[in-house]
Order: sequence, then C-alpha cells, then structure tokens
Amino acid sequence: MNLCVLGAQWGDEGKGKIVDLLTPNFSIVGRYQGGHNAGHTVYVSGQKFVLHLIPSGILHPGVVCAIGNGVVIDPTALFAEVDELARLGIDIAGRLFVSEKAHVILPYHRDIELLAEARRGERKIGTTSRGIGPCYEDKIARRGIRIGDIADTTGDGPLASAIRENVDVRNRLAGNSDVRWQDVLADLRKLWPRLQPLVSDVSLYLDRAMKAGKRVLFEGAQGTLLDIDHGTYPYVTSSSATAGGAATGLGVGPRAIGAVLGVAKAYTTRVGAGPLPTELLGAMGERLRETGHEYGASTGRPRRCGWYDAVAVRYATRVNGLAALAITKLDVLDGLDELEICTAYRCGSETLTEMPGDTAQFAACEPVYETLPGWKTPTKGARRWDDLPPNAQHYITRLEEVSGGAAAAIISTGSERDDTIIRHPEMLGLV
Ligand code: IMP
Repeated sequence: MNLCVLGAQWGDEGKGKIVDLLTPNFSIVGRYQGGHNAGHTVYVSGQKFVLHLIPSGILHPGVVCAIGNGVVIDPTALFAEVDELARLGIDIAGRLFVSEKAHVILPYHRDIELLAEARRGERKIGTTSRGIGPCYEDKIARRGIRIGDIADTTGDGPLASAIRENVDVRNRLAGNSDVRWQDVLADLRKLWPRLQPLVSDVSLYLDRAMKAGKRVLFEGAQGTLLDIDHGTYPYVTSSSATAGGAATGLGVGPRAIGAVLGVAKAYTTRVGAGPLPTELLGAMGERLRETGHEYGASTGRPRRCGWYDAVAVRYATRVNGLAALAITKLDVLDGLDELEICTAYRCGSETLTEMPGDTAQFAACEPVYETLPGWKTPTKGARRWDDLPPNAQHYITRLEEVSGGAAAAIISTGSERDDTIIRHPEMLGLV
C-alpha cells in the first residue's frame, strides 16, 4: 500500500519527522506541491537537518526522491540543499529526480511577491518571500517556465521570449528597469548542466516503479488549512496541499494514493496572517511557543500558538479522507494543569460544528472549549502507549473522538526518530 502524508492543520505539524520515520517502509518518496517555502526539520542522532524542497526521505540510503510537476522549483535553492546534504555526507546521485513539468521560480517572482504584499498593506498574507505565489500565478496564466524548457538554447526561442515578457511585467509593476531579461536568461542557463541529470518524467517513473511492486510515500507540504481551495482563503498558499494534490502533483491516478495519514500537532500553530480561532495571545501562547520551539524553519518567524482545534482537524479528516492521524509534540504539553480542546465555534448566536466556508465568518468565530486535566509525569521520549500517563492517554483518546474518527496511529513525543509511539502500524500498511 502506498501512503500519503500531509498536514492536517496550518503547516509545521512535524511532517518531516513522520516522513523520515516511515521512509524505511518505502522505496520512493514523492513531493507533490509547494516549494522552498516549506521547512521540514528532522533530527537524527542529535544532528539537525532542515529540508525545504528535497523530501526528507533523502536521509535514507537507497531511497529515491522525486519532486513532482506540482512543485515550484528555485534551482538555486535546490542546489543549496544538495550542497548542504553533501556537506553532511549524503549523496543524492541517482536518487533525486525532478519533473520536467515542474515550474521554475525565477528572481523576479520574489520581487513581484514583495510588491504585492506591500500593496496589500494591512491585509497582507504574510507570505514567505520565496516567490511561490507569483510562480504559480504564471503557471495558471500559462506563461510560466518549466524545468524542461531550460533545455532550449536558441537565442530568440520560446525560453528567451517567455523570460523577456515576464521580466517586462516585473519591470512595469516595479516602475523601474532594474532587471534585464538577458541576465535572468544567462543565469538560468548556467544552471542547466547541473540540473539536466536530475530531470525526469516523474509520472512515468512512478508508474513503472509501482507496477514493479515498489511502494511510494507521497509527501505533502504546508497543510490542509493553507490549501488554495480548501484553506482559509485568501490567507493560504498557492498550491493543493490536500490529498488530491498528490495525484495531480505527481501524475498518478487517485487510486495509487492508498491511505492518507494526517499529521497534527497536539495543539495548533500558524505562521503568517489569517484567522486562528484558538490563538492564545498571553502567557500560555508564549509557553507553547518557547517549549515547542515554535519559530519558522524557513523564515525564523515566531509562530502563533493555540489550543488544539478539533473542528479544523475534523475538516481535514473529511477533505483528505484521512485514515489515521499522527499526533506530534505531545511532550510540549507536559506539566500543564489543564488543557483545552476546541470542539465547536460560536459565531454570533450560532454554534457551528463544521468549518464555515466563508473566511470572514470564520474570522468572527469564537472557540467552544472542553477542558481536560493535564499530566505531571513527562511524556517526553515515551515509546509505548503504556508509558503515557493516564491523563495523556485520555487526551489523545478524546482528540481521536472529536477529530472526525481518524485514529491516532502515531504519537510523537520528542524530536528524535525514536521518540515515537507507533500504535496502529496496520492502518499505515506497515505490517
Ligand atoms: P507562501 O506559501 O509563501 O505564498 O505563503 C502563504 C501563507 O502560507 C503564509 O501565511 C505562510 O506563512 C504560509 N506558509 C507557507 N509555507 C508554509 C510552511 O511550510 N509552513 C507553515 N506555513 C507556511
């Protein structure tokens, strides 16, 4: 069985660790959307790895990593990551493939993003300034540049004219001519010799591999509530972070996906603007941020922290068809007297038990909390369900009940690979 691992909240759920943990059961890890806005942190024997574009499966020798057509790629960022892996002794030769159909992020995309955010003023999204949104805009507007297009070496061919037109747009928006299209083209072409050996028909590769009986792990970035369609629009990223994105973003049929595992923190975080009903602005929010080291892996921005929002995770269970949940960072809640779980929203005179589709209405929602007792015995590093204090077990059991019926198949109790309880391996096809 193949498995899709994705975020069931607003990103930063700890997908990197879960993907890394599960990878030994798979031959291939395929990343299907987003770009280097993501930051997947993995700790192995005390060493920290932060991956942005390359799937965290790369840390396992022999595992092939594929970056699908649904991803947007800044080649410079990709090579920085390859170099960093090489420095840490990890060789990607013959193990990393990039779809010829993936779109390329160019330096003008970042300029356009900064201009757009400045124009939005108070209503800015708080994007990661990686050029992600403008690159997807070009893709949808059918003027984007794909990885395979860089092979065009003609002086006035399709690559040159696309870059000339796109740089024109950038310069008009910026009100200056600071960027020369010839420079952008020349810089991009310099990268081709290093890029070319990685370029592949990822869809065909996966199809053949699956027919040969190889198992694939589909890796999502960001999270369900940041999905372009199903997230809290417009405070979202520009790609399909939900399970459907795995099929379109890697060129596989939906039946290839197998089971879907949603990763959710034992509380909630969000980075950037947009509604977050359970946000804690006082000392408790600060406590979660400091204990959980809640600072962006890509941008270093402090994350907004709040109690577990079961309405949001229930919604993620529905739109992704989650078979199971991986609950991460349980240990961050160690030592608290009481915990709150948001089970519904109060919106004016109404009580909502489902996520409203209207973001303005969502922004006006107040959480309805259920209070549970905390635990004093630390869960940090626990590796068996029976090692958890009864109140922590009760908390997890209650999360399962209110999160749409997906069982907590994995519980993470620390940053290292082994600080994990694998409670239902059968649900993930691991036995
Ligand atoms: P963009 O993806 O840079 O366009 O940013 C859009 C929104 O998604 C912003 O609120 C970002 O903070 C958020 N975002 C993008 N990538 C991530 C991520 O990997 N983790 C958490 N939030 C993210």
